[in-house]
Amino acid sequence: MAASCFRRRIAAQLSNVLEMPPDNLMKSIHAIPVSKKRQAADFQFFVSSVLDASKLPKSDIQLQTQRLAEQLKCDNVVSEISTGEGRINFTINRELLAKSVLQQVFQDGSEYGIKSELFSGLPRRKILIEFSSPNIAKKFHVGHLRSTIIGNFIANLKEAIGHHVTRMNYLGDWGMQFGLLGTGFQQFGSEEKLKLNPLQHLVEVYVEANKAAEEDETIKKMAQDFFRKLEAHEEEALSLWQRFRDVSIEEYVRMYKRLGVYFDEYSGESFYQEKCQEVLKMLDTKDLLKKTKEGTGIVYLPEKGDQSYSAVVRNDGTSLYITRDLAAAIDRMDRCYPDTMIYVTDKSQISHFQQLFQILKLMGHKWAERCRHVPFGRVQGMKTRKGEVVFLEDVLDEASSMVLERMASTKTTKELVNPLETAQRVGLAALIIQDFKGLLSSDYQFSWDRVLQSQGDTGVFVQYTHARLHSLEEKFGKVSQVSHINPACLQDPQAISLIQHLLRYDEILYQSSQDLQPKHIVLYLLALSRLAAVAHKVLPVKGSVPELAEARISLFQAARSILANGMKLLGITPITKM
Ligand code: ARG
Repeated sequence: MAASCFRRRIAAQLSNVLEMPPDNLMKSIHAIPVSKKRQAADFQFFVSSVLDASKLPKSDIQLQTQRLAEQLKCDNVVSEISTGEGRINFTINRELLAKSVLQQVFQDGSEYGIKSELFSGLPRRKILIEFSSPNIAKKFHVGHLRSTIIGNFIANLKEAIGHHVTRMNYLGDWGMQFGLLGTGFQQFGSEEKLKLNPLQHLVEVYVEANKAAEEDETIKKMAQDFFRKLEAHEEEALSLWQRFRDVSIEEYVRMYKRLGVYFDEYSGESFYQEKCQEVLKMLDTKDLLKKTKEGTGIVYLPEKGDQSYSAVVRNDGTSLYITRDLAAAIDRMDRCYPDTMIYVTDKSQISHFQQLFQILKLMGHKWAERCRHVPFGRVQGMKTRKGEVVFLEDVLDEASSMVLERMASTKTTKELVNPLETAQRVGLAALIIQDFKGLLSSDYQFSWDRVLQSQGDTGVFVQYTHARLHSLEEKFGKVSQVSHINPACLQDPQAISLIQHLLRYDEILYQSSQDLQPKHIVLYLLALSRLAAVAHKVLPVKGSVPELAEARISLFQAARSILANGMKLLGITPITKM
């Protein structure tokens, strides 16, 4: 019996008094967050959730709260009932609390929190999530990094709670940039460099070709010509393009591996040149396609106001970014029939996706309502010591080399079998925790110093805590079951706080699954790390009598297990030594 069962027990009592079905009350009963002012109570129920509080003066709510509380009774599960402002607090029998939480954690393992009643009855959905989506031959900027780690988190979370997830990468692999790239490569490209360092070489060629085209009309013409050949699927142009695409994907895959990210499908804008024509035809048949004086094909968007429209075809007949997205969305729906399609990009594309979903709706695709754009804010100042970041690898390398330096200068650092791998995992954890700490839509200023602090609210601290808890298990042995643990040994305030915190995990997962914000989990794990560190300090295992030692080890093991579960959801691989 843990969180769900306690909530159900409390709901049953409330339901008797309030004459409301217990199911309606379950979601209004919350485990109380652990705070510095240590709380004795474990759960709270806000009376305003069942009263129409807006109509009542405060004093009335308080009166109702008192009255309701007086009608509730303690029993062998609930040992104390008290009231606070507008809420009723419930304290669970101390030993029962400790025992049940530990038992649940050990029993459910990696599914702790997910097996909670909060997720029961959740229909299993098919979810297609598109994220990362870099542009070939252009820089893999911080926005792509954010899209990658956020998309990966959402995919992990959805999968963990039982949905069927398809992870898709939609490459920017078509457009005029390939005209420049093709011509540029023929002029000053190098086969050798392309093999050695494809992403970098392609960006170099692209930048140089761009400059050349600005200075020289003939280069510009050649580039246009190359793109025209590409669009006409001429063999030579197409095979060069195919090579650029292949070597880029190979590099991306290698890079994603460092991030612990994978995709089920690599799609891209190039897939939809022909299908764009079908989309335009459909728009025309439905009388949605209009022409401007200049000959641009547009679709009016009445939802956004009378005069607003979206351009879908240039006057020379070529498609636009949104046209390809229309074709891609329809194709994804036809092929996979997902219940939900999620797109993760920075917030500069909010309006693009609004237009996309609106046009789909105008075309009669009801499923457009089940499409969702998850926008995120900008990061300023992500630089390496060498200067501006061009490739994702630069950031990852910088993070791990800084961690390595710091590890080398710390006395407590252990002899590691693979220090580089540890540094990479710590570095990545630092980047992810920093990035996920706030609301996704907020912008933030990046600072290596802040990200890498070993004591602050950082990924370094979380990894460090995990490693320390893990080493306890190595030193004193792993507990495999807790039925014989004496819960009376876990009644110190620091132990209780930790247990109360573990009790809340399902609510945190639920919150993140609802609004897709990783910050709930991040703040939870940071608090868990702090609580575990304090408990570790005051509740020694070494030197305690066996019964006490074993109870403490199981508590620390439970904390570590949840820390690891949460980290994995965020896309972090927990380390075992540091
Ligand atoms: N390649 C685009 C960019 O870098 C992002 C693609 C987002 N996805 C989409 N379906 N439009 O800005």
